[in-house]
Amino acid sequence: MASINSETKSSIFITGGNGSLGSAIALQIARFRPKKYHLILTARKITDPRTINVSSTLKTLNASFEFQTLDLSSLDSIRSFAATIRERVSRNDIPRFSAGGMVLSAAMNTLLKDTKTKDGWNEIYGINVLAQILLIRELLPVLNGGLVINIASAAHAMAAANYFSNETKTEIGGEHAEENLGLGDAMKRYGASKLWVIMASHALQRRLDAKPNNAIKIVSLDPGGMSGDSNLGLDHWVLNSLKVVLGFVRPVLGRLKKDAFNPPEVPAKAVADLFEMERGGLGGKYFVLDDEVESSGASLEVKSQEEAWGKICRDLEIEREV
Ligand SMILES: NC(=O)c1ccc[n+]([C@@H]2O[C@H](COP(=O)([O-])OP(=O)(O)OC[C@H]3O[C@@H](n4cnc5c(N)ncnc54)[C@H](OP(=O)(O)O)[C@@H]3O)[C@@H](O)[C@H]2O)c1
Repeated sequence: MASINSETKSSIFITGGNGSLGSAIALQIARFRPKKYHLILTARKITDPRTINVSSTLKTLNASFEFQTLDLSSLDSIRSFAATIRERVSRNDIPRFSAGGMVLSAAMNTLLKDTKTKDGWNEIYGINVLAQILLIRELLPVLNGGLVINIASAAHAMAAANYFSNETKTEIGGEHAEENLGLGDAMKRYGASKLWVIMASHALQRRLDAKPNNAIKIVSLDPGGMSGDSNLGLDHWVLNSLKVVLGFVRPVLGRLKKDAFNPPEVPAKAVADLFEMERGGLGGKYFVLDDEVESSGASLEVKSQEEAWGKICRDLEIEREV
């Protein structure tokens, strides 16, 4: 599915383009910056009803966009996907990323203790951490000054910095027990995946900034609690009840804490606005919606960032240095 407008000068790549937030970001950009960006959206299934809905709305907006299939549970498919993007940029089939960039919105969460990616990694570590960093690394050669926006979460503050330090890959296709984690443990693991991408982003930004004239900037943005049809919420009675209550108290709550529970259009606007900001000082910044704040103390420790970075690079079998 592709509709490329020749007037667009830059591309923005959005993973989870059929998701609640990813699609809202695409629609926000298409509505308010028409003709400025070509949107490359990814989804696991082009035939997914959410993908079809987003596509038809983007078509009615005359947006320049395409949906591509990308499954983040396979590192090889990420490598070949990125190779195709690099090749398309080099033959000017899609606009460059320099004034655009990428938004890493796709992620998953589960109560299941031990589900595996196609490569044999625990899914939360494989999809929410390894896949994200591999995508950035593989697209670095074409980012050329592009902005990378890592969609983070306040849950990152719940986790210890060494959470995945001993994570190992198991044999592909091996059996795993269908055991559930408690809600607290599942949220800690999800939070740890968000923490690891924040830490790895700092380590990568340091390496990029050590190069002359680096213009690639990586920022993290926490969209806050979101209403809508996110599939990410765990199916647990505590969370389901909380969502109903939040729906009722949202108008009051919003006045006390602006990121408490918003429709996805609110964080989508904050993400889209980042692309319009002056980029010089953005690298390593952390935002909650449009407010720049500090991420957790653990996320800012250079030693922990370097340890996480080293482990991720070993697991991806890539060089530590860029
Ligand atoms: N919802 C919240 O309240 C909240 C709060 C804080 C942060 N966030 C963050 O916001 C981001 C977007 O979440 P959301 O609420 O929009 O969730 P969502 O609607 O469930 O979207 C998640 C997206 O990730 C994709 N995805 C999941 N597993 C994948 C895989 N293996 N390969 C490729 N794509 C995969 C999904 O694609 P499929 O349709 O194929 O499953 C979907 O497009 C996430 O990074 C999340 O951590 C959300």
